[in-house]
Amino acid sequence: MSKAIPPLWAPMTDQAQFWSDAAGRYEQDFIDPYHADVRNPLLPALTDLAGAKDRTVVDLGCGIGPLLPFLATHFRRVLAVDFAEGMLSRAREQCKTLSNVTFFRKALTALRGLPRPVDVAVAVNSLVLPELGELERCLESVHALLRRGGTFLGIVPAIDSVHYLTMLLLDRARQTGMPERAARKNAAAQAEHELYDLAFGEFRYRGLVQHFWQPFEVSYRLQRAGFHQVRLAKVELSWEQFGAIKDLAGHPPPWDWFFQAEKP
Ligand SMILES: C[S@@+](CC[C@H](N)C(=O)[O-])C[C@H]1O[C@@H](n2cnc3c(N)ncnc32)[C@H](O)[C@@H]1O
Repeated sequence: MSKAIPPLWAPMTDQAQFWSDAAGRYEQDFIDPYHADVRNPLLPALTDLAGAKDRTVVDLGCGIGPLLPFLATHFRRVLAVDFAEGMLSRAREQCKTLSNVTFFRKALTALRGLPRPVDVAVAVNSLVLPELGELERCLESVHALLRRGGTFLGIVPAIDSVHYLTMLLLDRARQTGMPERAARKNAAAQAEHELYDLAFGEFRYRGLVQHFWQPFEVSYRLQRAGFHQVRLAKVELSWEQFGAIKDLAGHPPPWDWFFQAEKP
């Protein structure tokens, strides 16, 4: 794993480039929320929202496009947005036979040029903008893009899940008879604490700087952006996705947070 950590003030344009560079090895570096063993409320929720296939959905931060074929089947029109050309070119390739998907290279803070209003906006692990001002602007842009009564849903990476994993790893080390100080060091190394700012919810890896969320933060930030009826649920990941620490599989797995909210 690369330890090359860019300065915190790296501008957003750099982030677009880092994301673009990450597209080629995406499957190796990122946990797949659509894996068969993951308990993910997203697809049933989207199916409910699709109605009689007469609605428009926008996939915000579509990445290499894993959700787009599903959206194209269930919705009349799909807008796919990402600021990273490397991601968009893989997504376009994956959707070349789908006639109702349109791609837009745009930042999530600048959605003004998109066809609007949309009925449903979905963001899967893309609400990760590291600067809070930008994150707030992004949520406000999504709110403006949706019709009244429209739905915003998605998944955000969970920082509390890293704390949970740390607890399990610490106890696992202590149970081998390791003194507590050494057990802490061991847990921190296994949970890759050097890549996280655990207090502020930030993850830095190969130049990417991502915001990771606390559960209480999801309703707080969505409400501040004008959404209401915020619902949260765990996306239960699979221990299979955690390589070397699969032996913790007797415990409930780590998670990310699914959310669903309405524009009044
Ligand atoms: C972790 S990937 C998730 C991709 C996809 N939603 C999925 O589930 O596989 C995050 C995606 O969000 C995009 N992204 C991150 N910040 C963005 C921003 N400010 N504007 C537009 N896209 C952004 C990245 O380029 C990347 O494709």
